[in-house]
Amino acid sequence: MLVTPSHAIVRPPGSSYSSCLREQPVAIDAELARSQHDGYVAALREAGIVVEVLPELPNAPDGVFVEDTAVVLDSCALVTRPGAPSRRGEVETIAAALEGRREVTIMQAPATLDGGDVLRFDRWLVVGLSRRTNRAGLECLARLAAIDGLEVVAVRVNDGLHLKSACTLAGPEIMLVREADLELGALARLPLERVAVPEAAGANVLALADRVIVSSAAPRTAELLARRGLSLRIVELSQIHAGDGALTCMSLRLAPAGAWTV
Ligand code: GLY
Repeated sequence: MLVTPSHAIVRPPGSSYSSCLREQPVAIDAELARSQHDGYVAALREAGIVVEVLPELPNAPDGVFVEDTAVVLDSCALVTRPGAPSRRGEVETIAAALEGRREVTIMQAPATLDGGDVLRFDRWLVVGLSRRTNRAGLECLARLAAIDGLEVVAVRVNDGLHLKSACTLAGPEIMLVREADLELGALARLPLERVAVPEAAGANVLALADRVIVSSAAPRTAELLARRGLSLRIVELSQIHAGDGALTCMSLRLAPAGAWTV
């Protein structure tokens, strides 16, 4: 059963955020990004999630995107080796934050993996092979996933930063997808309804047990989900999208024992 996470780990965008990696050289307002991050944390807390806010990391412009630095499973967690070399200094504090909560494994070279390429669905982990995640990274995660009885399903990411830039769950059985960005054949055997999203920012939503957090940049996706009877919580993320980020990338979420969360 998809549940609301009991805990989430976040890190606010720091003063160097405007130098973060991004495809398009759009200007970023770091102060506005910080206030949008506050709004995101408020939305998590409203849902009953205990949020741990890590201190800013100096010289880590992408440090706000904590999801990329670890994959938290049921009994264990993999601290990743991010695909972008400039992001590898982010992992130490994440490993420390996860110690005592899960059995922590640290990924080693040549493997690379960004958590943004990993989508949990029940007993499966859908893993994107992307510019950031290589086959060795996927295999490292698959070995760990087997400890918790989880199976990895590989999906090629043709366009965009991560798997979850192009698909996320909106509920326990609904996957929102930007179909052109992924090779979806491997997903056919998963018992999921796939729904094409009408706008890019709609592909990344954050599904909790009783609501879906959606970016205000995705009004048509919000309408589509509302028509299906889902409760929505809309947040402003313009400066996070400007840094190629979205809803899921800004937190590491931990499920209570015996349940799973996205
Ligand atoms: N700015 C997000 C990333 O490139 O990792």
